[in-house]
Amino acid sequence: MSKYEIPDEIPAFGHYLEKINNQDCNFEYCEVMHAPFPIKILRWNMTDFGHVNWVHRRCYHHCKVLVHTGRVTLLEYGVNQFFFLKLPIWFNTVMYHEIKTPNYIRHLSSSPLGGYTYTEMKMEEYIKNNKVWTRIDHIYKMRASKFIHPFLRWFIRRWTDVLWKEDYAMLERRNKVLNLGFKDHPEDTVVRAHDGFG
Ligand SMILES: [Fe+2]
Repeated sequence: MSKYEIPDEIPAFGHYLEKINNQDCNFEYCEVMHAPFPIKILRWNMTDFGHVNWVHRRCYHHCKVLVHTGRVTLLEYGVNQFFFLKLPIWFNTVMYHEIKTPNYIRHLSSSPLGGYTYTEMKMEEYIKNNKVWTRIDHIYKMRASKFIHPFLRWFIRRWTDVLWKEDYAMLERRNKVLNLGFKDHPEDTVVRAHDGFG
């Protein structure tokens, strides 16, 4: 392997992902969403990290790709933890982001207070009124004092609501563009880790 080649996975961190899933979490919360788009549109959005710096300024100060391979991306996010108060305070977190299968994306983020947030997105297509829809199960797991669990549920609902509204216009536009037969430019250099899944 030359010094410029990066392995397909980041094994040590990926291994820890399995452990935290089974042992370390005492909090779990699932948001179920239904979207009038196929999975490939949603996956494009979830792996197009560049748009975070422009579209999600309310929740994120910045998003920086540190390492990227075919399925795994290591990112630095500046997170506006107090977005609901509109306070300009943000903390750096590191995120391991992995496309496990075309329908299943998971990530592990460090928390500014220590510990981790483990997130899974499971997607399933179905047909409604002759249109392809996707059900998304967005599962959050972490370890936190029981005292703050109700706050965490409230926080995640607000967080998801803001991001979903901001993403929706992009998803709708891309769906229309693809349905009209347009294709991505082959020299598009934006990191989109879904390549190869069609
Ligand atoms: Fe987004």
